[in-house]
Amino acid sequence: MTKIGIDRLSFYTPQHYLELATLAERQGIDPDKFSRGIGQEKIAIPTHDEDIVTLAAEAARPIIEAVGTEGIDTLLFATETGIDQSKSAGIYVHRLLGLPTQCRNVELKQACYSATAGLQMACGYVARKPDRKVLVIASDVSRYDLDSPAEATQGSGAVAMLISANPSVLEIDPVSGCHSEDIMDFWRPNYRKTPLVDGKYSTLKYMHFLGHAWADYQESGGRDFGDFVQFCYHLPFSRMAEKAHRQLSNINKVKPDPTLIEPGMAYAREIGNCYSASLYLSLISMLETVPDDLAGKAIGLFSYGSGAVGEFFSGTVQPGYRDSLFTEHHGRLLAERTSLSYDDYLELWNAPDPHDGSEVVMEAAARGRYRLARINEHKRLYDSVET
Ligand code: HMG
Repeated sequence: MTKIGIDRLSFYTPQHYLELATLAERQGIDPDKFSRGIGQEKIAIPTHDEDIVTLAAEAARPIIEAVGTEGIDTLLFATETGIDQSKSAGIYVHRLLGLPTQCRNVELKQACYSATAGLQMACGYVARKPDRKVLVIASDVSRYDLDSPAEATQGSGAVAMLISANPSVLEIDPVSGCHSEDIMDFWRPNYRKTPLVDGKYSTLKYMHFLGHAWADYQESGGRDFGDFVQFCYHLPFSRMAEKAHRQLSNINKVKPDPTLIEPGMAYAREIGNCYSASLYLSLISMLETVPDDLAGKAIGLFSYGSGAVGEFFSGTVQPGYRDSLFTEHHGRLLAERTSLSYDDYLELWNAPDPHDGSEVVMEAAARGRYRLARINEHKRLYDSVET
């Protein structure tokens, strides 16, 4: 059978971050609650000229520069912080990246889960048309109410993945396990900018869904727990992996081994929750920071999107995968960042959002090539600048 999976994957995150020690000081709480309690050091904050479109285009850019656009005939854009109720954010990205006009576009939504739906659909599509490639992009700006307990679990970023036959990085197994149920743990009605969330309940439900998805994975003929050398989990905050892995280890009557999850937690600690992109940021973090050669080894992945859907799936790392990663580029993105004061964070948090069609010209502040230049007559206008 032809191998199908992730041929390239790359992330992007904004230049600015809020140190959670700054937020702890503002909220008058012990900074250890964030660094140790939820396992977060920083949360990435976009400038006013960055949004899910510019983050997505920046994430995909190294892939397009490395392999070109040939064969890409589908762009699946996963997000839960969409900028339009009708038009897919992918259409803007399609133009910014210069994708062929024959390429189809659609936006997918189911909280943080949608990129996994995109990945699975892409694998199915490539199985039918092995000469084609699908660009799956997950991009989100995670915002919660100011001064709420969830504020420390914000973040922003995008991951782009090229799905193809004979992939260079990770073959995705056809077997997976799913669990869906109608619950209210986290949701955002159309008229709200920030979600409503029942934080503790959502964490319990995440683990409950993990148990069910794992059971379905097993019943569907999945691999044994002991076959996996690393696990990547959806990370609303990095310590969620510890809770999840303890749960899965208990189900399998095995003592939890933190070395099987720590590599996947590293980048999330520095960026925060990027909703649909978070699981795939964890995958990149794991592939780029495990020192041993993982070729031929099995990886377990758990995707969770509130509301809710959970899916456990797996893949095999491909020989020579390191040559297809963007490790140095990602290292620079993380190293070359600036810390915000609390007041600067507040200003960025309140992004312009004219509802009356008036014009807002954005200050040029994004570090990348793509920027939201202005909003006028209800239209978002994106620019591409040489960098
Ligand atoms: P909270 O109520 O402020 O925190 O909110 P807490 O009191 O539960 O404390 C958190 C941990 O810090 C606890 O550890 C404390 O003991 C510890 P735990 O009991 O969990 O092991 N702690 C300390 N540790 C060291 N030194 C200290 C200290 N003080 C306390 N001084 C909560 C936490 C996550 C609920 C909140 O941030 C929240 O509501 N976040 C948003 C919701 C969320 O992230 N849910 C996760 C699962 S749902 C999901 O993943 C989907 C999602 O991504 C959305 C989507 O799908 O689109 C969110």
